[in-house]
Amino acid sequence: MIPVLICVLISLSAAASDLGTLYPELEHSRTIYITENGPQLSVVAEQPKVVSRRGANVTLPCKIQRDQSLAPSRRMRIKWTKLTSDYLTEVDVFVAMDYHKRSYGSFHGRVHLQGSSPMDASLVITDITLEDYGRYKCEVIDGLEDGTAVVSLDLEGVVFPYFPRLGRYNLNFYDAERACHNQDAIVASIDQLYDAWQEGMDWCNAGWLSDGSVQYPVITPREPCGGKNMVPGIRNYGQRDKDRNHYDVFCFTSYYKGRFYYLIHPSKLTYDEAVRACQKDGAQIAKVGQMYAAWKLLGFDRCDAGWLADGSVRYPISNPRRRCSPTEAAVRFNGFPDKKHKLYGAYCFKSLN
Ligand SMILES: *[C@@H]1O[C@H](CO)[C@@H](O)[C@H](O)[C@H]1NC(C)=O
Repeated sequence: MIPVLICVLISLSAAASDLGTLYPELEHSRTIYITENGPQLSVVAEQPKVVSRRGANVTLPCKIQRDQSLAPSRRMRIKWTKLTSDYLTEVDVFVAMDYHKRSYGSFHGRVHLQGSSPMDASLVITDITLEDYGRYKCEVIDGLEDGTAVVSLDLEGVVFPYFPRLGRYNLNFYDAERACHNQDAIVASIDQLYDAWQEGMDWCNAGWLSDGSVQYPVITPREPCGGKNMVPGIRNYGQRDKDRNHYDVFCFTSYYKGRFYYLIHPSKLTYDEAVRACQKDGAQIAKVGQMYAAWKLLGFDRCDAGWLADGSVRYPISNPRRRCSPTEAAVRFNGFPDKKHKLYGAYCFKSLN
């Protein structure tokens, strides 16, 4: 074993009175310097970011590197936490010490250590949910030594702007969380909105993001969207009051387990008829998030306006053509018509679970 050099320097104000006049801030201070042969334990994530999708299994990498001069590990503790979207707190995910293992909250029964070697602290998460998106911290504690690494879990998916039947700018932050959830989605993060903007999202209504800020993406600067002379970018209203301020929301969703489809039916339907027709087909009326996921991730294309669960009428176009969104691939929105109008078809969703 290589001896570890520990050098302690104590400067007491009495013994170092001339130092004290030279460096008054050192007076009464006691400085302890500890020199060692570098850190004896370090923790690394071989990849800082892992990309997966809803429903898949993922491994968050975390490798322990221990100095060989260290005595064989007695009790190494491995702890995984998740950073909240505002990065202010951490949520427990998993803890392992010796043979004791514990998983927490929504991760219960879905997480375990990969354990390919004693130095492997990688975490496996099965059946990924939208809420699993975010940053995770791997922390290893070995006696007095301690190391951490951070890994981001990114999900393939789609961001969409949303407001409910109530109309524009009617959601406080908590309403916004519910609104996305009701459409099979979560509130998007700023990173997800940024990616969507890079892919061409241009939307002139401000919406909540998961960190409690309110922003919107602009590709073509124009007067009603922050000004004609601004550069393209994401306009940021900053952090807003989560209870009192009301905006739209940007939702995020990923792949689903199920089948999204347009119901073939002999006549046009009212909203209630659409709900019943889907049920009769062994399905449910589809949610807005499911239409966006089918359109963006599976290339779904249908030029028929149909009812969705929130009472809106939309249709997804992947191949722009005359009379069907001629200029761009998009989910077209016909608003929230009178639910009694017998004018539209129905989009249904059959879950595979
Ligand atoms: C995920 O892992 C579980 C258990 O280890 C397995 O049963 C399941 O088939 C896996 N799912 C996928 C999508 O690979």
